[in-house]
Amino acid sequence: MSAFLEGRYYVFAHETRTVFPGSWVFVADEHELPGPGDYLSTIVGTEPVVVLRDADRKLAAFLNVCPHRGSTLLRGSGTCDWLITCPLHGWRFGLDGTHRATTFSARMREAPEPGAMDLQPVRLERWRRFVFVTLSDTAPPLAEWLEDACALTATYPLETSVCSQRSYERQSLNWKVFWDINLDLYHIPTVHRGSVAGEFRILDSTLWTGPRTTSYAQMVLRRPLVSEDRVLPGLPAERRLGSFRVAVHPNFVATFEPDGHVFVSWVLPTGVNDCVIGALAYGPPDGDPELSRAELKEGLDLVMAVQHEDYVACRRNVVGLRSNGYRPGPAHDLEMQTEALHRWLREAYTWQGAR
Ligand code: FES
Ligand SMILES: [Fe+2]
Repeated sequence: MSAFLEGRYYVFAHETRTVFPGSWVFVADEHELPGPGDYLSTIVGTEPVVVLRDADRKLAAFLNVCPHRGSTLLRGSGTCDWLITCPLHGWRFGLDGTHRATTFSARMREAPEPGAMDLQPVRLERWRRFVFVTLSDTAPPLAEWLEDACALTATYPLETSVCSQRSYERQSLNWKVFWDINLDLYHIPTVHRGSVAGEFRILDSTLWTGPRTTSYAQMVLRRPLVSEDRVLPGLPAERRLGSFRVAVHPNFVATFEPDGHVFVSWVLPTGVNDCVIGALAYGPPDGDPELSRAELKEGLDLVMAVQHEDYVACRRNVVGLRSNGYRPGPAHDLEMQTEALHRWLREAYTWQGAR
């Protein structure tokens, strides 16, 4: 049987109800929330979630839902006061999620039990500056989910890197249509022949998978992009060959460059045929900040241009995947990361509810 998912999985709502809520899902870079009260709202599966920095500067996540009558609380991203105010009837909640005040409480029919109207906490853990959440009580700790990804990327600086560029785009696509292509190196010589294909000796790439939730690709540059003195000190020989790509199922990919640049892409389904796609770019910590920002902008512009080439490919795939003419075919070695995602998804599809 082919490793690839059949077309029917591309109209599949089960992922938003089970797979995403049951997984560790990348939601933010913690530097996007520098100060107390900074927040970012997102969606994990079908659940609205807010990630915020509390009064003690600790990161926390909650279901972004008012327990009174279910209004969502915070929209987009920004900074809230010391209290979160529900936009519907004005109840107030602390940054620790506790219910603090009821408007016009004298005429409430009954006083809620202490704690019963607090916001529901969501598990949050960090991998360096990357913030992940899960709605599952039974998912293993994030460090386990990441398998070898932490050890294999420990040499790259991230904490002090400049991250001055990010982008978010909403696309009317089933998230997998984009993610399958994003993970696949096989399409690079065809889809990206006008942009980045010439930079790599793509057939010399080495790909491998972790036990369950990760996969890796060491790509080989045709010629070094930077001079030897800009290569990170202490980088193992194979990492000096070119971009090292780490995928963590279901929604996170980071590409680490030999000079310390890092590019992250992520996807979150917001419906069966709707998703949000994000990209973040980090520069090396010791570069000239001005130059670094310019380089990052250039780097992220290139990532986005490449991503737009992928969208064109995605539109063709959307039609084809749903056709009776599609029977999943054999995998190429350069499709190993897509294959790994599909293998893991087949297992994840058997999960029962996540909470
Ligand atoms: S729904 Fe939030 S206060 Fe009523
Ligand atoms: Fe691509």
